[in-house]
Amino acid sequence: MCLEQARAWIKQAASVSVLTGAGISAESGIPTFRDAAGLWKQFRPEDLATPQAFARNPNLVWEWYDWRRSLISQAQPNTGHLALAEIERRASCFTLITQNVDGLHQRAGSHNVLEVHGSIWKLRCTKCHREWKDQTVPLKLPPRCECGAIARPGVVWFGEGLPKGVWSSAEKATMACDVFLVVGTSAVVYPAAGLIDLVRESGARIIEVNTAKTAVSDNVDCTLIGPAGEMLPKLLNHVLSRPA
Ligand code: OAD
Repeated sequence: MCLEQARAWIKQAASVSVLTGAGISAESGIPTFRDAAGLWKQFRPEDLATPQAFARNPNLVWEWYDWRRSLISQAQPNTGHLALAEIERRASCFTLITQNVDGLHQRAGSHNVLEVHGSIWKLRCTKCHREWKDQTVPLKLPPRCECGAIARPGVVWFGEGLPKGVWSSAEKATMACDVFLVVGTSAVVYPAAGLIDLVRESGARIIEVNTAKTAVSDNVDCTLIGPAGEMLPKLLNHVLSRPA
């Protein structure tokens, strides 16, 4: 029932925006943060994902990011990522806002991607703030900028602001859409989770896809319970049967 309704909303929408979290990459073998085997069950964010942790021990932080880069480099986008890329091809207006830093959406063929928590494939100089892309795995640690200073991962850490331009584009895409999909996120980390409050105010339909109920499930129009790699292609069946 909910699935049929959700399909119809997507089919009729002029503008679709999506917020994804770690759950969409789970079926690609990338661990989430807060599930039973999640990263924050094994590691303390204050040791690895804060500016203070990096200042204290850059090598430790880099070893963790280098391990994650290696894991991600061996992973492939899954059918959930591919389904979202397909929605983008079909929709007249589409924005994918992701909290993920893994780059799997782009590898699946998504183009209009806003990485609100940055990218694990970007490095940023701690001194001159130059930012560049580097997909070397493993990195020679700690990586350095051409100016000689240590580089940091180009991601957002706890206690830091989100990249301004990217965030304001995410807010705009949230307020302008008719249908907002929330996929594979526990929706507890702000400000990203605040986009769901924003879209609720705008009156757009909100469809959630998750393996379990979340903090926002009671406040969305429909929650599809199941793995994103199964539910997103199912959601698209109908839409995909239209002529291209
Ligand atoms: P979480 O680990 O908090 O949540 C993952 C969500 O994915 C949970 O709600 C799971 O139920 C769901 N899930 C797991 N497997 C799934 C699957 N196959 N299909 C669909 N859903 C599935 O991850 P995020 O919400 O992304 O930030 O976490 C948000 C932020 O917290 C991350 O970007 C990261 C983290 O700390 C920073 O590091 C700044």
